[in-house]
Amino acid sequence: MASKIKSLYVCSECGYESAKWYGKCPGCGDWNTMTEEVREASPRTSLSAARQIRKPSSFPVAITEISTEDEERYYTGSKELDRVLGGGIVKGSLVLLGGDPGIGKSTILLQVCSHLGQILKILYISGEESKRQIKLRASRLGVNCSNLLVMTETDVEIVAAQIEQEKPDLVMIDSIQTMNFKELNSSPGSVTQVRECTNLLMRTSKALDIPCIIVGHVNKDGAIAGPKVLEHIVDAVLYFEGDKQMSYRILRAVKNRYGSTNEIGVFKMGDTGLSEVENPSLMLLSGRPKNVSGTCVACAMEGSRPILAEIQGLVTNSGYGNPRRMSTGFDYNRMSMLLAVLEKRCGYFFSSLDAYINVVGGLRLDEPATDLAVTVALVSSLKDIVVSDDILAFGEVDLTGEIRAVSNASLRVNEASRLGFKRCLLPYHNLSGVTLPDDSEMQLIGVRNIRDAVAALGG
Ligand code: TYD
Ligand code: MG
Repeated sequence: MASKIKSLYVCSECGYESAKWYGKCPGCGDWNTMTEEVREASPRTSLSAARQIRKPSSFPVAITEISTEDEERYYTGSKELDRVLGGGIVKGSLVLLGGDPGIGKSTILLQVCSHLGQILKILYISGEESKRQIKLRASRLGVNCSNLLVMTETDVEIVAAQIEQEKPDLVMIDSIQTMNFKELNSSPGSVTQVRECTNLLMRTSKALDIPCIIVGHVNKDGAIAGPKVLEHIVDAVLYFEGDKQMSYRILRAVKNRYGSTNEIGVFKMGDTGLSEVENPSLMLLSGRPKNVSGTCVACAMEGSRPILAEIQGLVTNSGYGNPRRMSTGFDYNRMSMLLAVLEKRCGYFFSSLDAYINVVGGLRLDEPATDLAVTVALVSSLKDIVVSDDILAFGEVDLTGEIRAVSNASLRVNEASRLGFKRCLLPYHNLSGVTLPDDSEMQLIGVRNIRDAVAALGG
């Protein structure tokens, strides 16, 4: 049967497919995202005929008989990256690395090459930079090993053929948006191209058991450009976050089939590339102002690590009828909720005041345990109460204004104690579960509600 060519409209944001064009995508609601793609429909075979042809090639196995002993991991030479990956790169895995342009994706890959290139054969494929550019960057980063093979290519079939021929131990693709499949009529970076290229790379690398790291660009909303299916295909999705103006970068796993997704890695961009920040709390707290109101230190758990960060609150008279609320690094809706709780339950009125919250250092704190520090920072700014710089606060605030217990209280208090904090405001119900070393000078102040907390600060 002859194959038929048909025209399809595909949304570049969500991958929604339709036979006719829409100005607004019915899938995700975005405007002007439907692009035309030409596809060749494959000839159909009848279902019964297909069944007869197909012979079973895989069989079910009892779960107890499956061995995981040969799961091999390559350590990347960076403890922070290994932690986010769940303990190194798993053999045969497909890792997607996303982030804004210029955040350091290519840099970290070359640095991984510098360490792993000593023991492994690596194939680095770039569709963005010339060999010379890569060499210049590599010399800047001190990468010099003959095991690192560099290729500049955008045709994914040639890339797959090279992988099969060279059989490297690790493949890096920079970036998936520049790869293209000649047979498809759409332009590189389009939904179909990205999906098909990833599929081909996955089939090639899984067949040969070669791990593959793929760089993906992000779109204006911060999601990896291209269809969501890309994130479904790969084994792990890592995002590089951080302010480009600041030198700190945070690597976060949003999906990981081989480890936890709560872990973060903290890096600092310098003249010689990215370096690890082993003690992020110390970095986040450096240069803290003394004797000013509107600041409080919080302790959030990022995976297995407690991280201390300064939260600043600013409350001022509003110049307009509609007061402004703004938050950086903290959920906007959660901040609105805390302001409502402060008004209704504690009698602090913000309705004619502008309120701002900022987590210093570019970190995003999503854990409810940061609520108490945010509330303290807001009240401290409103009432001009100075929170001493040796105090930290953590606890979840509920809608009644009570402070609820949080997990890992002991870990948080111990980390604060290690960093020299002397007093800790924590949920009353967490008090009994906290154990401190004998020589610790930390004073634990259990609070039941926001009023208790403000009273403990001398407000
Ligand atoms: P890059 O890795 O090219 O970003 P991406 O691949 O994510 O687009 O990051 C390059 C940025 O980092 C660039 O703005 C310059 C800066 N940089 C340094 O500050 N120091 C260095 O040693 C290197 C290699 C880059
Ligand atoms: Mg790059």
